[in-house]
Amino acid sequence: MTEYLRLDSAECTLILELPQGEAPLWRYWGLRLPDGVLPPQSLRETRPTPSFSPDFDQPLSVFPGCGAGWFGESALLAHRDVRDWSFQATQCRVEQADGSATVTVFDEVSQIEVIIGLTLNAVSNVLAIETKLTNQGNAPLNVQWLAAGVLPLPPDAAKVHSFGGRHNGEFVPVADQLSRSTWRRENRRGLTSHDRFPGALVEANGATYGAQLAWSGNHAQSIEWIDDGRFQWQFGEWLAPGEVRLAPGECLTTPELLATCAHDADRVAQNFHAAIRQRLTWPGGAMKPRPVHINTWEGFYFEHDEDALKDLADHAAALGIERFVLDDGWFHCRDDDSSSLGDWWPDARKYPNGLKPLTDHVTGLGMEFGLWIEPEMVNPDSELYRAHPEWALGVSGRAAVTARNQLVLDMRRAEVRSYLFDCVAALLRELPISYLKWDHNRDLIAAGDRAGYRDQVLGSYALMEQLRAEFPDVEIEACAGGGGRIDAGIVRHTHRFWTSDNIDAVSRLSIQRGFLQYFPPELMGAHVGASPAHATGRQQSMDFRAGVALPGHFGVELDVRTLGESDRAQLQHWISLYKTHRDRLHSGKVWRGEAGDGLYWQAHGEADNLLLLVYRIEPQSWRHAPLLKLPILDAKQRYHIDGTDYDGAWLISTGLPTKPLKAEQFLLIEVKAI
Ligand code: DGJ
Repeated sequence: MTEYLRLDSAECTLILELPQGEAPLWRYWGLRLPDGVLPPQSLRETRPTPSFSPDFDQPLSVFPGCGAGWFGESALLAHRDVRDWSFQATQCRVEQADGSATVTVFDEVSQIEVIIGLTLNAVSNVLAIETKLTNQGNAPLNVQWLAAGVLPLPPDAAKVHSFGGRHNGEFVPVADQLSRSTWRRENRRGLTSHDRFPGALVEANGATYGAQLAWSGNHAQSIEWIDDGRFQWQFGEWLAPGEVRLAPGECLTTPELLATCAHDADRVAQNFHAAIRQRLTWPGGAMKPRPVHINTWEGFYFEHDEDALKDLADHAAALGIERFVLDDGWFHCRDDDSSSLGDWWPDARKYPNGLKPLTDHVTGLGMEFGLWIEPEMVNPDSELYRAHPEWALGVSGRAAVTARNQLVLDMRRAEVRSYLFDCVAALLRELPISYLKWDHNRDLIAAGDRAGYRDQVLGSYALMEQLRAEFPDVEIEACAGGGGRIDAGIVRHTHRFWTSDNIDAVSRLSIQRGFLQYFPPELMGAHVGASPAHATGRQQSMDFRAGVALPGHFGVELDVRTLGESDRAQLQHWISLYKTHRDRLHSGKVWRGEAGDGLYWQAHGEADNLLLLVYRIEPQSWRHAPLLKLPILDAKQRYHIDGTDYDGAWLISTGLPTKPLKAEQFLLIEVKAI
């Protein structure tokens, strides 16, 4: 009698077949099947041995290894001084609890044990997979690849959607057709990267599959066609040669892989949002309304003048801004990007009495104070580097390559982490700082004599964890030259992402739509910048800039003292509107749509109470603007919109007329069920 393991959430089902002494076989992962449905017979009963094939049939398992006649990509590439390289599970134990299963496979020949945890969350519909390998042999094991998770995709999987990009241009959509050639993305930049987001969406007939690796370092994912027409999708850390060498008894735990399946991309996004919300750890246990920011970067860059900044704070407070973030330029001798990273004490020339007069001024106005830091970095021109050149990450005998004039500190070293902890802790103890903007402005190059990419990430996580343990009320924003470190791993330590250094509202719209595929809007740092935008030179109205920033964690990044009266009044209006709507924007669901002819929409909330944000990006080319078809509504419900009552079925099938918009204009519409 064949045994199966079945896990269900409201919308997804997973079924594994459990042959004795083998790794469980993937039978199903996809949209929810009716209760009680299981395969009628074992997989092997349904497939006679094809010609010129092993007499033992090895279908796709949760941990495919190349020792058992599996010719596809292996979940493990490892060896013990050239031996023990071919993994084959010879023992298997499966334990099932509510909504989760733990699969332990052991290879008696290579003495490798692998434990795979699979948890299908009932609320989010997200399957979390984590894999732990233990070297049970008596010699070191070199690991080149350990899949965090292996997922099956159906034969009708047709297209994969991923993101490319660069600094100032994150989340650029890339669509590839799946075929018998392997699809693969690798990131070797040492941090999450602007150009290889560690996730993707796969479109099949009637279902969309999504997965993302919760990791802030190197990673790889591949989708490979397999002999029965299905595909296998693997995710894991990209490991450099020699990077992981496990002593006897040592283990390697992969980052978590988050995967889900739904009818369409928006529902995949909603599932991910729910899973990310479950992983966030807020000061005080719950998210407070996301405070409106003012960030000094684009308004002041490195030119810090205490009186001018106090004046800025006065103007910001008068506009209703709630958090003042002092960006780069505040610390010892930092006048441009050529020096001083590592010297984390206030610049005595710019702040003769330290930061206290400014922080007290800001908090005295009722605003929170936030501070920019870039802990993992050092400039060669710094007190820190002069004292400890050996703390910089690099390869002995090779000239270090700078980027933005800076080097990376070796976060594997306990003395580095403790120096950084002491510097940041001293600031947090002395000053009323409740927020850190934590930047990381370069990629890693040849990380150490022995490759230390993985440990670098773990070192950063450990430092964040230590600071959060000691200062639990402090929130952290993850930034890496904008969106270079946006991932579900760092989310466990942080509370906001700086989405991009490009604040141009048109560029932002598509960057934000990409971001929202994987992360909820309350984590999406979204600022009203200056016009012309510093990144692109394009000019946009205050209303459009604010309308684009509105759904995210709203902020302002310009010198508001220079605003004309009308812009100032408009900004004040948007800030107060954001405060009115932020609870709805930041707790419900998100849908993204395109009406055609340059008209885009985004809906936030629940289907019976929505905020509809409509953006025209291109000038209208049709004589009459397209109607907004809203498939997210309930066909049987009636809705009240702008003084008119509509049938849901009408809005779904025909659409909502909107007033004409010029290019780069925005409309906010409330949709309420009646
Ligand atoms: C890059 C960030 O993305 C910017 O917002 C700003 O903080 C600069 N670094 C400061 O150097």
